[in-house]
Amino acid sequence: MTISAGLEQLRRCHVAVDLGATRTRVYVKGTGLVVDQPSAAAVNTRTGALIAVGELAEQMTGRTPGYIRVVRPVSGGTVVDIEVGRRMLRALLGEKVRRALRRKPRLRAAVCVPHDADPLAMRAATETLLGLGARRVELVDTLIAAAVGCGLPVERAEATMILACGAASTQIAVLSLGAVVTADRVPVGGDAIDHAIVQHLRQRHELVLASQSVRPLHLALSGDGPAAGAAVAEIQGTDVTTGLPRLVRVDTAAVREAVRMPLTSVLDGIGRVLRDCPPDLVADLADQGVMLVGGSALLPGLDRTLHNATGMPVRIAERPDVCAVLGLGALLEGKVRPMVLDPLAG
Ligand SMILES: Nc1ncnc2c1ncn2[C@@H]1O[C@H](COP(=O)(O)OP(=O)(O)OP(=O)(O)O)[C@@H](O)[C@H]1O
Ligand SMILES: [Mg+2]
Repeated sequence: MTISAGLEQLRRCHVAVDLGATRTRVYVKGTGLVVDQPSAAAVNTRTGALIAVGELAEQMTGRTPGYIRVVRPVSGGTVVDIEVGRRMLRALLGEKVRRALRRKPRLRAAVCVPHDADPLAMRAATETLLGLGARRVELVDTLIAAAVGCGLPVERAEATMILACGAASTQIAVLSLGAVVTADRVPVGGDAIDHAIVQHLRQRHELVLASQSVRPLHLALSGDGPAAGAAVAEIQGTDVTTGLPRLVRVDTAAVREAVRMPLTSVLDGIGRVLRDCPPDLVADLADQGVMLVGGSALLPGLDRTLHNATGMPVRIAERPDVCAVLGLGALLEGKVRPMVLDPLAG
């Protein structure tokens, strides 16, 4: 998939969608980002009725009576439940936006899919978007959409590396001339890091951590020497055996050590991509460096850890979590110029 293939087609689209495993984002041409909500739907299993979507459905997770189930229709970048995916998307858009879209005589939609999406995953994304009443659905490589969204010079010949840090996985790619030159996916993302932190507290401190308490501990990761950052952090959780609330003082260096394993997989992935990359492009990367996109790019200290390990400059996109959908939006609005690839011209 390259953007040059469909630049004209994309300009004719009215709506762009990024169906992520954790969040769904929608951009409407001429309006901007209209949806950025958890990819979740609460369904009444007795009647099949949709009870809530997005933020509200996510809050219900683990708190519902037996007959209500919170469904996550997207997993690992693929729509696994097309029917719920369609209904969730319609509900997230709301009546007002849907009415405006229905007025388009031939509604066209764009959706981004992972770089390594197979035909079935592409079909599932297309089917889901057809549920909005679209006549035609254009597919765009997420990595290219994200690169456009964070202002990388995708259409030029200099190579850039992009790391899309999602919840369940990290995609690593080198881009040049509007296309992906080499790419790899590592099954480690924000969730694996959080899991490593939770496991560490359970084993070392016999503490069960509430999911919302992981974020503050991320800050402990931001230092990378024993002297950097605070040496201890106070964390509230519940005791593994008694179930009573307990406050523990956590050694932040030990937490950093616990997340080293998952981070090593990401570094290995970067190494593999660099080895597959033509030497001229590797030379570009030393100047251009790495751009971090995706929600987990916001993990404190991730940029510094990657810089220390690779020696390359590492930047975080201005809005890493939404840059794929904003990139799709820029393509819809015609803000990306077509590439000039004719070697005889000029
Ligand atoms: N401020 C933050 N600090 C640390 N982690 C964060 C922050 N904000 C989001 N995340 C993490 O980012 C991840 C979600 O990333 P993102 O929104 O890119 O996922 P997604 O697009 O839904 O998933 P995917 O593209 O992998 O299907 C989650 O693991 C979340 O915990
Ligand atoms: Mg995403």
